[in-house]
Parts: sequence; C-alpha cells; structure tokens
Amino acid sequence: MTQPASVSDWRERAKKRLPHMMFEYIDGGAYAETTLRRNVEAIERIALRQRILTDVSKLQLSTELFGQKLAMPLLLAPVGMAGLYARRGEVQAARAAQAAGLPFCLSTVSICSIEEVRAGTTEPIWFQLYMIKDRGYMEALLQRAKAAGTKVLIFTVDLPVAGARYRDVRSGLSGVLSPLDKLKRGINGAMHPHWMWNVFLNGRPQSFGNLVDAMPNAKGTNDFAMWIGKNFDSSVSWEDFAWVRERWDGPIIIKGILDAEDAKRAAEVGADGIVVSNHGGRQLDGVPAAIEALPPIMRVVGDRMTVLMDGGVRSGLDVLKALALGAKGVLIGRAWAYALGGGGEAGVRAMLLTMQRELEVAMALTGCTDVRTAGEHLLVRDR
Ligand code: FNR
Repeated sequence: MTQPASVSDWRERAKKRLPHMMFEYIDGGAYAETTLRRNVEAIERIALRQRILTDVSKLQLSTELFGQKLAMPLLLAPVGMAGLYARRGEVQAARAAQAAGLPFCLSTVSICSIEEVRAGTTEPIWFQLYMIKDRGYMEALLQRAKAAGTKVLIFTVDLPVAGARYRDVRSGLSGVLSPLDKLKRGINGAMHPHWMWNVFLNGRPQSFGNLVDAMPNAKGTNDFAMWIGKNFDSSVSWEDFAWVRERWDGPIIIKGILDAEDAKRAAEVGADGIVVSNHGGRQLDGVPAAIEALPPIMRVVGDRMTVLMDGGVRSGLDVLKALALGAKGVLIGRAWAYALGGGGEAGVRAMLLTMQRELEVAMALTGCTDVRTAGEHLLVRDR
C-alpha cells in the first residue's frame, strides 16, 4: 500500500504490522459485535446538509474544553496497552496529539506510566481512571496524576465487569492457553519482524506502568486479564464518585454514559462533563450506538454540562455529525490505535491531519464556518 489516506487505510496497515492477537484486541468488540457495527453504521446513516455560496474562506476549528484550547474539538480517548502497538506507544501517541494541539488521555491500563508519558511530552496530559478495590492505591495513583500536572480526569464507569470479548479468547490474548496455543502465538509474533524488533525486543518493559506495584506477580496479558477480574471494583457506585471528587480538584468527566437518567444524575452529583459512550462496543453488546444515545442526553443535560461522545468516529465528517447533534467534542479510540500500530507517532500525526482536513471540507461544504456554532441545521432530518 502507498501512503495511508483514511482511517480505514491505517486499519489495513495495522493489520499487516501487528501480531494477529494485538490487532484483534484493537479491532474487536463484545459478543457478536452488533454495537460495534452499529456505532459506525448509525453515524453513516446521518446525512450532512450541503449548502452553497456561503463564504467559507475562513474556518474556525479551534475550541475550548475545560479551560484548555484545542486545535479542533477532538481528543485521543484512553486506550489500554498502546505500548504494545508501537515502541513506548503511549509516549508516541501523546506526542502526536500535542503536535496537533489536541489532548491525549492516558488509560489506567497503559504500558507506559503516567510519569513516562509526561516526561516525553511538553504539556500535561489527561488521565483516565478505572476504580480498583485497593483505595489506598487509587489515592496514590491520583496523586501521581496530579504530580504529573494532570488537570482533567476521565472516570470510566462502564467497566464494573469486563465485556465478553470473544476475539480475545480466540486469538489467545485472554483465557487459558495450552502450550500449543503459546507456540502459535510465538510463531505469529515472529512473522511480524517490525513489531518483534520495535516493540517486543526494544520496547520493554511491557508491564502496566501505572499498576506495576499493585500487581507484582502478573507476567503477561493472560495474567493481567485475571488480575483485572479480581481487582477491578464491581461495587463502584455513585458514592464513589464523591470519593473521587474529594480527592481531585480539577474537572472530572464521567465516561460511559448511554442513558439520560444517568446523565442527569452525573450533573446532579457535580461531574463537570460526561462522555456518551458504549466503550466502542466492547462492553454490553446490543446497546444503542453512542450517536443514537446522544440526542436524548443532550435534551436533559446539554445546557448544564459539557457533553462529549465517542464510538464509531472514523473521519472528520463523523466529527461534524456528532457536533451537529450537540457534542462539544469527540473522542477517537480505534482511529489512533490503528494509526499508532500502522505508523507510530508519524502515523498518528498523519491521521490527525487527515481528520482535520476532512473536518475542514465538511464544514466548508455545509457552510459552517465555526465549529462552536455547529447544530442540527447542518443535518438533513426526515421531512
Ligand atoms: C478502549 N477504550 C478504553 N476506555 C477506557 O476508558 N479505558 C481504557 O483503557 C480503554 N481501552 C481501550 C482499548 C481499545 C483497544 C479500544 C479500541 C478502546 C474505549 C475508548 O476509550 C473509546 O471509548 C472507544 O474506543 C471509542 O470508540 P472507537 O473510536 O474506537 O469506535
């Protein structure tokens, strides 16, 4: 393939470069993957409204979220284990995001620790929190995030238990492996020399940087999956939000809301923002697409808090559709994971530039000169 142009090209490149198991982890979703597909298809079904002869020679893409200026209303969603897609992958992706003027949100379950990512970047990053049972460890983790200069915390709440991800079982990433499975996995790794050299041999350590002290005995991803099962706290409730709130003075965004009742509660308990999200179709299969869940939530809390969304966003056109339905910003997960796996930091930079160009074109041809004015008037609705 020549230079990848779109996100789907980056997906193809990642598929070639990454070991099967790693690609499947990024690409897959829960159970029969109906929600994963629905996220993309529901966005595809939305029609942009083409307008003509408006002066679109000057376009305003930049916006502000939680006191931070963004070059466009887009940010890199927390994605676990990105240090296995490219050498010290979270550092590379964070650098690409900062070069593009966009926030990077580091996952709790990243390979690189928050300190390592911060040391590799010029500005603070955002941090995503999963609640584990050991509250002393959680408290220390929040302190580490603060010490790294993090202001914005994304608290992910849609993973009290892990979704049933059968691709990971088939690929050998999770579940119990026989010696033959382990051998097959090794051979598949060896068939990807670029990854073997860059990530497996020269990208060490491949431990979970933010959690190493909490899980000294976990050796690989299979142990890790078991560790998550034992240590992620499935008793997390609204009271725990208050616990986090007491320990974090910056903005807190609750991620993983699909229901208007929950959005209302999030506003009532003092969340600064929410991400309307079904975890990219990786948790409860059969729930609505995130973009379908957005309008009813906007009606209830749109004027009370900052509403972001993610799930199925693969282009700048998709970004404009989500903004038109009220989101103040959009997160991308797989889009950057594919680009990182396919081309490292340069890949993520190129992909973000593509998204920016696509957003510019979509704005120009819908006659939208300022992202902050995007609204339903940019869409063709049933009439
Ligand atoms: C995720 N997501 C995720 N979310 C989170 O809060 N913490 C995490 O560690 C992860 N890890 C993760 C790994 C991978 C490989 C993917 C694809 C996703 C969910 C992510 O933040 C986001 O909600 C979705 O990726 C959005 O959907 P798209 O953009 O991938 O369609």
